[in-house]
Amino acid sequence: MIRSIENLDAQGKRVLLRVDFNVPLDKQTGEITDDGRIQAALPTIRHLLQQHATVIAVAHLGRPKSADDLQYSLAIVAKRLSQLLDMPVTFIAPTNAEERKSEVLALGAGSVALLENIRFDARETSKVSQERFALAEELAALADVFVSDGFGVVHRDQASVTDVAQLLPSFAGFLVAREYQVFSEVISNPNRPYVVILGGSKVSDKLGVISNLLQKVDVLLIGGGMCFTFLQALGMNVGKSLVEADFVETVKGFIAQAQQRGVKLVLPVDVVVADSFAPDAAHKVVGIGEMPQEWMGLDIGPETRENFKQEISQAKTIVWNGPMGVFEFPAFDAGTRQIAESMIASSALTVVGGGDSAAAIRLFNLDESKFSHISTGGGASLEFLEGKELPGLKVLEDSNA
Ligand code: 3PG
Repeated sequence: MIRSIENLDAQGKRVLLRVDFNVPLDKQTGEITDDGRIQAALPTIRHLLQQHATVIAVAHLGRPKSADDLQYSLAIVAKRLSQLLDMPVTFIAPTNAEERKSEVLALGAGSVALLENIRFDARETSKVSQERFALAEELAALADVFVSDGFGVVHRDQASVTDVAQLLPSFAGFLVAREYQVFSEVISNPNRPYVVILGGSKVSDKLGVISNLLQKVDVLLIGGGMCFTFLQALGMNVGKSLVEADFVETVKGFIAQAQQRGVKLVLPVDVVVADSFAPDAAHKVVGIGEMPQEWMGLDIGPETRENFKQEISQAKTIVWNGPMGVFEFPAFDAGTRQIAESMIASSALTVVGGGDSAAAIRLFNLDESKFSHISTGGGASLEFLEGKELPGLKVLEDSNA
Protein backbone atom coordinates (compact mmCIF):
# COMPACT_ATOMS: atom_id res chain seq x y z
CA MET A 1 0.00 0.00 0.00
CA ILE A 2 1.07 3.55 -0.54
CA ARG A 3 0.47 6.42 1.82
CA SER A 4 -2.36 8.52 0.44
CA ILE A 5 -3.01 12.23 0.67
CA GLU A 6 -6.13 11.32 2.62
CA ASN A 7 -3.82 10.67 5.58
CA LEU A 8 -2.28 14.12 5.30
CA ASP A 9 -3.43 17.10 7.31
CA ALA A 10 -2.18 19.80 4.95
CA GLN A 11 -3.76 22.64 6.89
CA GLY A 12 -1.51 25.66 6.55
CA LYS A 13 1.40 23.58 5.25
CA ARG A 14 3.74 24.22 2.33
CA VAL A 15 3.29 21.31 -0.03
CA LEU A 16 5.81 20.41 -2.71
CA LEU A 17 3.63 18.73 -5.34
CA ARG A 18 5.28 16.67 -8.11
CA VAL A 19 2.99 16.62 -11.11
CA ASP A 20 3.44 15.41 -14.68
CA PHE A 21 2.72 18.41 -16.86
CA ASN A 22 4.69 16.96 -19.77
CA VAL A 23 1.96 17.88 -22.24
CA PRO A 24 2.12 17.86 -26.05
CA LEU A 25 2.71 21.24 -27.70
CA ASP A 26 1.87 22.30 -31.23
CA LYS A 27 5.14 22.42 -33.17
CA GLN A 28 4.21 25.64 -34.96
CA THR A 29 2.37 27.69 -32.35
CA GLY A 30 3.80 26.18 -29.15
CA GLU A 31 0.22 25.92 -27.80
CA ILE A 32 -0.81 22.99 -25.59
CA THR A 33 -2.66 20.47 -27.77
CA ASP A 34 -3.91 18.16 -24.99
CA ASP A 35 -4.17 19.39 -21.40
CA GLY A 36 -5.36 16.02 -20.02
CA ARG A 37 -2.41 15.74 -17.66
CA ILE A 38 -3.03 19.20 -16.22
CA GLN A 39 -6.71 18.41 -15.72
CA ALA A 40 -5.76 15.17 -14.00
CA ALA A 41 -3.84 17.05 -11.29
CA LEU A 42 -6.70 19.39 -10.41
CA PRO A 43 -8.46 17.23 -7.77
CA THR A 44 -5.31 17.04 -5.66
CA ILE A 45 -4.54 20.74 -6.05
CA ARG A 46 -8.11 21.71 -5.16
CA HIS A 47 -8.06 19.41 -2.14
CA LEU A 48 -4.85 21.04 -0.88
CA LEU A 49 -6.22 24.52 -1.46
CA GLN A 50 -9.35 23.67 0.51
CA GLN A 51 -7.00 23.01 3.41
CA HIS A 52 -5.31 26.40 2.90
CA ALA A 53 -2.04 24.77 1.98
CA THR A 54 0.50 26.55 -0.19
CA VAL A 55 0.96 24.45 -3.30
CA ILE A 56 4.40 24.51 -4.90
CA ALA A 57 4.10 22.42 -8.05
CA VAL A 58 7.20 20.95 -9.65
CA ALA A 59 7.17 19.42 -13.11
CA HIS A 60 9.19 18.78 -16.25
CA LEU A 61 8.49 19.39 -19.92
CA GLY A 62 10.30 17.42 -22.60
CA ARG A 63 13.97 16.63 -22.35
CA PRO A 64 15.76 20.01 -22.48
CA LYS A 65 19.51 20.06 -23.04
CA SER A 66 20.01 23.16 -20.89
CA ALA A 67 18.19 25.98 -19.11
CA ASP A 68 18.41 28.03 -22.32
CA ASP A 69 16.13 25.59 -24.10
CA LEU A 70 13.17 27.94 -23.63
CA GLN A 71 10.89 26.02 -25.96
CA TYR A 72 10.57 23.74 -22.91
CA SER A 73 9.60 26.50 -20.47
CA LEU A 74 6.60 25.69 -18.28
CA ALA A 75 5.35 29.30 -18.45
CA ILE A 76 2.60 28.30 -20.88
CA VAL A 77 1.53 25.48 -18.57
CA ALA A 78 1.31 27.89 -15.60
CA LYS A 79 -1.05 30.00 -17.68
CA ARG A 80 -3.24 27.02 -18.54
CA LEU A 81 -3.26 25.82 -14.93
CA SER A 82 -4.38 29.27 -13.84
CA GLN A 83 -7.27 29.16 -16.36
CA LEU A 84 -8.34 25.71 -15.21
CA LEU A 85 -8.20 26.59 -11.50
CA ASP A 86 -9.71 30.00 -12.17
CA MET A 87 -7.17 31.66 -9.88
CA PRO A 88 -3.68 33.14 -10.24
CA VAL A 89 -0.77 30.74 -10.47
CA THR A 90 2.63 32.22 -9.68
CA PHE A 91 5.23 31.06 -12.17
CA ILE A 92 8.62 30.81 -10.48
CA ALA A 93 11.13 31.26 -13.25
CA PRO A 94 14.48 31.31 -11.41
CA THR A 95 16.25 27.99 -11.34
CA ASN A 96 18.86 29.32 -8.94
CA ALA A 97 18.18 27.93 -5.45
CA GLU A 98 18.34 31.18 -3.46
CA GLU A 99 16.16 33.23 -5.80
CA ARG A 100 13.67 30.40 -6.13
CA LYS A 101 13.47 30.02 -2.39
CA SER A 102 12.86 33.70 -1.75
CA GLU A 103 10.01 33.72 -4.30
CA VAL A 104 8.49 30.61 -2.75
CA LEU A 105 8.71 32.00 0.76
CA ALA A 106 6.78 35.07 -0.40
CA LEU A 107 3.76 32.93 -1.34
CA GLY A 108 0.71 33.18 0.89
CA ALA A 109 -1.38 30.33 2.30
CA GLY A 110 -3.94 29.04 -0.17
CA SER A 111 -1.88 30.02 -3.20
CA VAL A 112 -0.46 27.98 -6.07
CA ALA A 113 2.94 28.29 -7.74
CA LEU A 114 4.58 26.33 -10.52
CA LEU A 115 8.36 26.09 -10.67
CA GLU A 116 10.15 26.38 -14.01
CA ASN A 117 10.97 23.08 -15.76
CA ILE A 118 12.92 21.13 -13.18
CA ARG A 119 14.92 19.46 -15.97
CA PHE A 120 16.52 22.84 -16.68
CA ASP A 121 18.70 21.73 -13.76
CA ALA A 122 20.80 18.82 -15.01
CA ARG A 123 20.96 17.35 -11.50
CA GLU A 124 17.29 16.33 -11.79
CA THR A 125 18.10 13.48 -14.16
CA SER A 126 21.74 12.91 -13.13
CA LYS A 127 22.92 9.33 -12.78
CA VAL A 128 25.08 10.47 -9.85
CA SER A 129 22.95 10.07 -6.75
CA GLN A 130 24.79 12.81 -4.77
CA GLU A 131 23.99 15.33 -7.51
CA ARG A 132 20.32 14.39 -7.53
CA PHE A 133 20.25 14.49 -3.77
CA ALA A 134 21.73 18.01 -3.68
CA LEU A 135 18.86 19.25 -5.86
CA ALA A 136 16.35 17.29 -3.79
CA GLU A 137 17.64 19.06 -0.67
CA GLU A 138 17.03 22.44 -2.30
CA LEU A 139 13.49 21.39 -3.19
CA ALA A 140 12.81 19.93 0.25
CA ALA A 141 13.84 23.25 1.81
CA LEU A 142 10.86 24.86 0.07
CA ALA A 143 8.18 22.80 1.80
CA ASP A 144 6.95 20.87 4.85
CA VAL A 145 5.61 17.84 2.98
CA PHE A 146 5.87 16.18 -0.42
CA VAL A 147 2.90 14.97 -2.45
CA SER A 148 3.61 12.84 -5.51
CA ASP A 149 0.89 13.14 -8.13
CA GLY A 150 2.84 12.84 -11.37
CA PHE A 151 2.04 9.24 -12.24
CA GLY A 152 3.55 9.64 -15.73
CA VAL A 153 6.98 10.08 -14.18
CA VAL A 154 6.98 7.53 -11.32
CA HIS A 155 9.06 5.13 -13.42
CA ARG A 156 11.92 7.65 -13.31
CA ASP A 157 14.48 7.68 -10.50
CA GLN A 158 14.92 11.44 -10.47
CA ALA A 159 15.52 14.14 -7.84
CA SER A 160 11.98 15.55 -7.75
CA VAL A 161 10.38 12.11 -7.98
CA THR A 162 12.30 9.80 -5.63
CA ASP A 163 15.08 11.64 -3.79
CA VAL A 164 12.93 14.41 -2.39
CA ALA A 165 10.44 11.81 -1.10
CA GLN A 166 13.16 10.61 1.25
CA LEU A 167 13.67 14.05 2.73
CA LEU A 168 10.09 15.05 3.50
CA PRO A 169 7.01 13.23 4.76
CA SER A 170 5.59 11.88 1.49
CA PHE A 171 2.13 11.04 0.24
CA ALA A 172 0.51 9.95 -3.00
CA GLY A 173 -1.93 12.44 -4.49
CA PHE A 174 -5.36 11.28 -5.70
CA LEU A 175 -4.13 10.61 -9.23
CA VAL A 176 -1.16 8.48 -8.24
CA ALA A 177 -3.27 6.64 -5.66
CA ARG A 178 -5.95 5.86 -8.26
CA GLU A 179 -3.46 4.76 -10.93
CA TYR A 180 -1.69 2.57 -8.37
CA GLN A 181 -4.96 0.98 -7.25
CA VAL A 182 -6.22 0.26 -10.79
CA PHE A 183 -2.97 -1.13 -12.16
CA SER A 184 -2.35 -3.19 -9.01
CA GLU A 185 -5.78 -4.73 -9.49
CA VAL A 186 -5.23 -5.61 -13.16
CA ILE A 187 -1.80 -7.09 -12.61
CA SER A 188 -2.55 -9.07 -9.49
CA ASN A 189 -6.21 -9.92 -9.39
CA PRO A 190 -8.05 -9.35 -12.69
CA ASN A 191 -11.61 -10.52 -13.14
CA ARG A 192 -11.65 -12.99 -16.03
CA PRO A 193 -11.78 -13.19 -18.96
CA TYR A 194 -8.91 -10.71 -18.96
CA VAL A 195 -8.43 -9.19 -22.41
CA VAL A 196 -5.56 -6.91 -23.38
CA ILE A 197 -5.43 -4.96 -26.63
CA LEU A 198 -1.99 -3.83 -27.75
CA GLY A 199 -1.20 -1.56 -30.67
CA GLY A 200 1.13 1.27 -31.59
CA SER A 201 3.79 1.25 -34.20
CA LYS A 202 6.65 -0.69 -32.66
CA VAL A 203 6.69 -4.13 -31.12
CA SER A 204 10.14 -3.32 -29.72
CA ASP A 205 8.53 -0.85 -27.28
CA LYS A 206 6.33 -3.57 -25.88
CA LEU A 207 8.54 -6.66 -25.57
CA GLY A 208 8.59 -6.57 -21.77
CA VAL A 209 4.89 -6.01 -21.49
CA ILE A 210 3.99 -8.81 -23.94
CA SER A 211 6.30 -11.22 -22.17
CA ASN A 212 4.69 -10.46 -18.80
CA LEU A 213 1.12 -10.35 -20.10
CA LEU A 214 1.43 -13.78 -21.71
CA GLN A 215 1.63 -15.17 -18.19
CA LYS A 216 -1.52 -13.38 -17.07
CA VAL A 217 -4.09 -12.69 -19.77
CA ASP A 218 -6.73 -14.90 -21.34
CA VAL A 219 -6.88 -13.07 -24.65
CA LEU A 220 -4.34 -10.81 -26.35
CA LEU A 221 -5.49 -8.74 -29.33
CA ILE A 222 -2.73 -7.25 -31.47
CA GLY A 223 -3.27 -4.38 -33.90
CA GLY A 224 -1.41 -1.23 -34.95
CA GLY A 225 1.89 -1.17 -36.81
CA MET A 226 3.28 -3.84 -34.47
CA CYS A 227 0.91 -6.47 -35.85
CA PHE A 228 2.94 -6.68 -39.06
CA THR A 229 5.97 -8.07 -37.26
CA PHE A 230 3.65 -10.78 -35.88
CA LEU A 231 2.19 -11.46 -39.33
CA GLN A 232 5.67 -11.65 -40.86
CA ALA A 233 6.67 -14.06 -38.08
CA LEU A 234 3.79 -16.27 -39.28
CA GLY A 235 5.23 -16.17 -42.79
CA MET A 236 2.75 -13.67 -44.28
CA ASN A 237 3.64 -11.14 -46.94
CA VAL A 238 2.98 -7.69 -45.45
CA GLY A 239 4.00 -5.51 -48.42
CA LYS A 240 5.60 -2.25 -47.35
CA SER A 241 4.10 -2.30 -43.86
CA LEU A 242 6.25 -1.48 -40.86
CA VAL A 243 8.18 -4.57 -39.79
CA GLU A 244 10.93 -4.73 -37.18
CA ALA A 245 13.01 -7.46 -38.76
CA ASP A 246 15.30 -7.73 -35.72
CA PHE A 247 12.38 -8.81 -33.58
CA VAL A 248 10.74 -11.41 -35.81
CA GLU A 249 12.43 -14.27 -33.91
CA THR A 250 11.37 -12.82 -30.53
CA VAL A 251 7.83 -12.55 -31.80
CA LYS A 252 7.90 -16.17 -32.98
CA GLY A 253 8.79 -17.02 -29.37
CA PHE A 254 5.77 -15.05 -28.13
CA ILE A 255 3.47 -16.90 -30.54
CA ALA A 256 4.79 -20.25 -29.31
CA GLN A 257 4.48 -19.17 -25.69
CA ALA A 258 0.86 -18.08 -26.21
CA GLN A 259 0.07 -21.52 -27.63
CA GLN A 260 1.75 -23.34 -24.76
CA ARG A 261 -0.01 -21.24 -22.13
CA GLY A 262 -3.43 -21.38 -23.75
CA VAL A 263 -3.54 -17.61 -24.30
CA LYS A 264 -5.79 -16.73 -27.21
CA LEU A 265 -3.65 -14.54 -29.44
CA VAL A 266 -5.87 -12.70 -31.92
CA LEU A 267 -4.22 -11.08 -34.94
CA PRO A 268 -5.83 -9.13 -37.79
CA VAL A 269 -7.47 -11.11 -40.57
CA ASP A 270 -7.84 -8.04 -42.78
CA VAL A 271 -6.26 -4.59 -42.96
CA VAL A 272 -6.72 -1.20 -44.58
CA VAL A 273 -3.76 -0.74 -46.90
CA ALA A 274 -2.61 2.54 -48.45
CA ASP A 275 -0.27 3.42 -51.31
CA SER A 276 1.57 5.97 -49.15
CA PHE A 277 1.71 7.32 -45.62
CA ALA A 278 -0.60 10.31 -46.08
CA PRO A 279 -4.08 11.39 -44.99
CA ASP A 280 -5.32 11.37 -48.60
CA ALA A 281 -3.50 8.19 -49.73
CA ALA A 282 -5.41 5.76 -51.95
CA HIS A 283 -6.60 2.93 -49.71
CA LYS A 284 -8.60 -0.30 -49.68
CA VAL A 285 -9.42 -3.25 -47.46
CA VAL A 286 -7.61 -6.51 -48.16
CA GLY A 287 -7.44 -9.87 -46.44
CA ILE A 288 -4.20 -10.87 -44.74
CA GLY A 289 -2.25 -12.79 -47.33
CA GLU A 290 -3.48 -10.53 -50.13
CA MET A 291 -1.45 -7.45 -49.29
CA PRO A 292 -0.12 -5.72 -52.41
CA GLN A 293 3.68 -5.65 -52.47
CA GLU A 294 3.92 -1.84 -52.81
CA TRP A 295 1.21 -0.92 -50.24
CA MET A 296 1.35 -0.56 -46.46
CA GLY A 297 -1.15 -1.43 -43.75
CA LEU A 298 -2.37 1.64 -41.85
CA ASP A 299 -5.36 0.26 -39.93
CA ILE A 300 -7.07 -3.00 -39.03
CA GLY A 301 -9.91 -4.02 -41.37
CA PRO A 302 -13.68 -4.41 -40.74
CA GLU A 303 -13.64 -8.17 -40.10
CA THR A 304 -10.83 -7.72 -37.58
CA ARG A 305 -12.76 -4.90 -35.92
CA GLU A 306 -15.71 -7.24 -35.53
CA ASN A 307 -13.51 -10.03 -34.11
CA PHE A 308 -11.93 -7.64 -31.61
CA LYS A 309 -15.35 -6.29 -30.65
CA GLN A 310 -16.58 -9.83 -29.90
CA GLU A 311 -13.60 -10.57 -27.65
CA ILE A 312 -13.99 -7.27 -25.82
CA SER A 313 -17.72 -7.84 -25.27
CA GLN A 314 -17.00 -11.07 -23.37
CA ALA A 315 -14.27 -9.67 -21.12
CA LYS A 316 -14.50 -8.77 -17.44
CA THR A 317 -11.20 -6.86 -17.41
CA ILE A 318 -9.96 -4.91 -20.44
CA VAL A 319 -6.67 -3.09 -20.78
CA TRP A 320 -5.83 -1.17 -23.94
CA ASN A 321 -2.50 0.34 -24.88
CA GLY A 322 -1.67 1.64 -28.35
CA PRO A 323 -3.77 2.65 -31.35
CA MET A 324 -4.89 0.15 -34.00
CA GLY A 325 -3.92 2.40 -36.90
CA VAL A 326 -2.93 5.90 -37.91
CA PHE A 327 -5.89 7.43 -36.07
CA GLU A 328 -4.68 10.99 -36.71
CA PHE A 329 -5.78 10.44 -40.36
CA PRO A 330 -9.59 9.98 -40.50
CA ALA A 331 -9.31 7.38 -43.28
CA PHE A 332 -7.38 5.11 -40.90
CA ASP A 333 -9.05 5.76 -37.55
CA ALA A 334 -11.86 3.17 -37.62
CA GLY A 335 -9.94 0.43 -35.80
CA THR A 336 -8.88 2.68 -32.93
CA ARG A 337 -12.38 4.14 -32.72
CA GLN A 338 -13.89 0.63 -32.59
CA ILE A 339 -11.72 -0.40 -29.64
CA ALA A 340 -12.66 2.75 -27.70
CA GLU A 341 -16.37 2.31 -28.50
CA SER A 342 -16.36 -1.39 -27.59
CA MET A 343 -14.78 -0.53 -24.25
CA ILE A 344 -17.41 2.14 -23.64
CA ALA A 345 -20.13 -0.43 -24.35
CA SER A 346 -18.63 -2.92 -21.90
CA SER A 347 -19.50 -3.22 -18.22
CA ALA A 348 -16.05 -4.67 -17.47
CA LEU A 349 -13.23 -2.83 -15.73
CA THR A 350 -11.88 -0.79 -18.65
CA VAL A 351 -8.40 0.65 -18.41
CA VAL A 352 -6.71 2.75 -21.07
CA GLY A 353 -2.93 3.11 -21.01
CA GLY A 354 -1.79 6.70 -21.45
CA GLY A 355 -0.10 8.28 -24.41
CA ASP A 356 -1.63 7.81 -27.84
CA SER A 357 -4.67 5.74 -26.81
CA ALA A 358 -5.78 8.42 -24.34
CA ALA A 359 -5.07 11.12 -26.95
CA ALA A 360 -7.24 9.22 -29.48
CA ILE A 361 -10.18 9.13 -27.07
CA ARG A 362 -9.93 12.88 -26.63
CA LEU A 363 -9.49 13.46 -30.38
CA PHE A 364 -12.66 11.44 -31.05
CA ASN A 365 -14.48 13.49 -28.39
CA LEU A 366 -15.63 10.33 -26.64
CA ASP A 367 -17.03 10.49 -23.14
CA GLU A 368 -14.02 9.84 -20.89
CA SER A 369 -16.25 9.12 -17.91
CA LYS A 370 -17.45 5.94 -19.66
CA PHE A 371 -14.05 4.29 -19.06
CA SER A 372 -13.17 2.96 -15.62
CA HIS A 373 -9.76 4.56 -15.88
CA ILE A 374 -7.73 6.47 -18.45
CA SER A 375 -4.13 6.50 -17.35
CA THR A 376 -1.95 9.60 -17.59
CA GLY A 377 1.19 7.49 -17.79
CA GLY A 378 2.56 6.22 -21.10
CA GLY A 379 5.90 4.66 -20.12
CA ALA A 380 4.87 4.37 -16.47
CA SER A 381 1.72 2.37 -17.21
CA LEU A 382 3.64 0.06 -19.55
CA GLU A 383 6.31 -0.57 -16.93
CA PHE A 384 3.60 -1.25 -14.34
CA LEU A 385 2.04 -3.82 -16.70
CA GLU A 386 5.50 -5.30 -17.26
CA GLY A 387 5.53 -6.05 -13.55
CA LYS A 388 8.50 -3.77 -12.89
CA GLU A 389 8.97 -1.99 -9.61
CA LEU A 390 8.43 1.74 -10.16
CA PRO A 391 10.87 3.78 -8.06
CA GLY A 392 8.50 6.73 -7.61
CA LEU A 393 5.89 4.41 -6.09
CA LYS A 394 8.32 2.33 -4.07
CA VAL A 395 9.48 5.43 -2.25
CA LEU A 396 5.90 6.19 -1.24
CA GLU A 397 5.40 2.66 0.05
CA ASP A 398 8.48 2.98 2.19
CA SER A 399 8.00 6.50 3.43
CA ASN A 400 7.18 7.23 7.03
CA ALA A 401 5.46 10.47 7.64
C1 3PG B 1 6.06 10.89 -20.16
O1 3PG B 1 5.67 11.75 -20.95
O2 3PG B 1 5.96 9.67 -20.39
C2 3PG B 1 6.58 11.33 -18.83
O3 3PG B 1 6.36 12.68 -18.60
C3 3PG B 1 8.04 10.97 -18.67
O4 3PG B 1 8.82 11.68 -19.58
P1 3PG B 1 10.27 11.15 -19.96
O5 3PG B 1 10.07 9.89 -20.78
O6 3PG B 1 10.94 12.26 -20.71
O7 3PG B 1 10.98 10.82 -18.68
